Amino acid sequence: MAVETRPSSPYDDQKAGTAGLRKRVAVFRQAGYLENYLQAIFDAVPALRGGTLLIGGDGRFHNDVAIRTAAAMAVANGVARVLIGRDGLMSTPSASSLIRAHGADGGIVFTASHNPAGPDGDFGIKFNMAGGGQATAALTEDFYRRSLAMTEFRIEAEPGLDLSTIGTRTIGETTIEVIDPLEAYADQMAGLFDFPAMRDWLAAGHRVCFDAMHAVTGPYAREILCRHLGAPDAAVINADPLPDFGGGHPDPNLIHARELVETAFGADAPDLCGASDGDGDRNMILGPGLFVSPGDSLAMLAANLDAIPAYAAGLAGAARSMPTSRAIDAVAAQRGFECHETPTGWKFFCNLLDAGRATICGEESFGTSSNHTREKDGLWAFLAWLNVLAARDTDLPTLARAHWREFGRHYYQRHDYEGVDAAAADVAVSALRERLVELPDTVHDGWHLTAADDFAYTDPVDGSQAESQGLRLCFGDRARIVLRLSGTGTSGATIRLYLERYEAPDGDLDRDPAEALAPLAELAEQLIGIRRHTGRDAPSVIT
Ligand code: G1P
Ligand code: ZN
Repeated sequence: MAVETRPSSPYDDQKAGTAGLRKRVAVFRQAGYLENYLQAIFDAVPALRGGTLLIGGDGRFHNDVAIRTAAAMAVANGVARVLIGRDGLMSTPSASSLIRAHGADGGIVFTASHNPAGPDGDFGIKFNMAGGGQATAALTEDFYRRSLAMTEFRIEAEPGLDLSTIGTRTIGETTIEVIDPLEAYADQMAGLFDFPAMRDWLAAGHRVCFDAMHAVTGPYAREILCRHLGAPDAAVINADPLPDFGGGHPDPNLIHARELVETAFGADAPDLCGASDGDGDRNMILGPGLFVSPGDSLAMLAANLDAIPAYAAGLAGAARSMPTSRAIDAVAAQRGFECHETPTGWKFFCNLLDAGRATICGEESFGTSSNHTREKDGLWAFLAWLNVLAARDTDLPTLARAHWREFGRHYYQRHDYEGVDAAAADVAVSALRERLVELPDTVHDGWHLTAADDFAYTDPVDGSQAESQGLRLCFGDRARIVLRLSGTGTSGATIRLYLERYEAPDGDLDRDPAEALAPLAELAEQLIGIRRHTGRDAPSVIT
């Protein structure tokens, strides 16, 4: 075993955000950069010595190098059992589930989620703890502090692993197993959903289209949709994972999944369309001529989840991140289950899931999942929709409209201002924060501002607290403006503005969201002045 010596604090920017450490590939390629962070993980999680570690990645450029490095360091750090996904591939939700299934002491997933990949793109590293959830803020902080003080790391010579073949090798005290994550994931899904009913529905002539965006979910989607459920190969598009994701931006939204959007809005559209992101945790759902916003998808699935065998007993509760639309709250109120509002970041759902207080969770950023795992799960959401449509004798647009007629509709948009000057972004947010107390006289469309605050959260399970999680301006339950800074960007700052407007069941439920929200967007600009502060005249992305 080699101990390589490094000067103290070689890298002072190894601070991980809400979804792990994300940097340009060039940064990760600096000598010792990756090793420094990995050693911090081995040091901060002592159970890994003599324990089990899962390693996988989303297949992006540099994935194989990083996986071999992590395996060699796991050997040198005394990990007893290392499980690696075949070809180094493992989606984030499947890693979370495998950690749980194997009782692993942690998992390392190399991903920068939906960020573009390739030599000039981004790379990233995420650590999931025993139990499958993302590293807590405290653990992430511990990694960071250790990375600053790091003077050496431990690494074994790379043993020339064959990542493409299922099998076991022993190196010193460590066994390294290359496993097939697809089979385990397909088995798990078969245990949740009514595969026979879904197969029959497809055999009856219904069609689906799933866009894997040349990222990690391609092989999973093929395995389940084509092999298990009998859909034709053409049902999965962009199915082969590529190191640069085909040059695209694998973020499943209306802008980046354009091919799929055209299919869903074209003539002869499939009954259900969906897409997932780089590491397979996000999802977008579309029906013929209809985009289902993530907040609506969460609410509609929650209202229909009992059609799926694993959830037939009903929901224990639901949870959404604070900026996510309150459509789910309306379902919870009517159906009588708990609904929790948490800060942005999937990790905040895990205590609620562990405590049995949430069955389904969702974020406006195209994240949906259930208590079957501890990450959001893009393919799960798609299969859940497929199962609901197969079980209910209806089509997606009819189901959506019936939902709005029952619960009302929450028109919703997120406006992102990307790559803005970090200082200007801070000023925009702090200027609004300072004005929160003087805002309550504001009236919008006849509705009074009823609350203006900086969202703070106390975890109902362990009492832990999170402050300053985003500014909320609420006009009762009629409308809401939310402002926060992204924690996941890699260049400059990203300002996120979230707009929501409720339309009652007897109101106009068929408006274009942009048009329905235009007056609220104008009010937000008057109150916050993002354009004034940043010099931008429009958001970079609207989802
Ligand atoms: C974004 C999303 C958030 C999600 C995270 C990781 O974080 O908004 O919901 O959990 O990516 O996928 P943000 O950039 O807003 O901090
Ligand atoms: Zn992701």
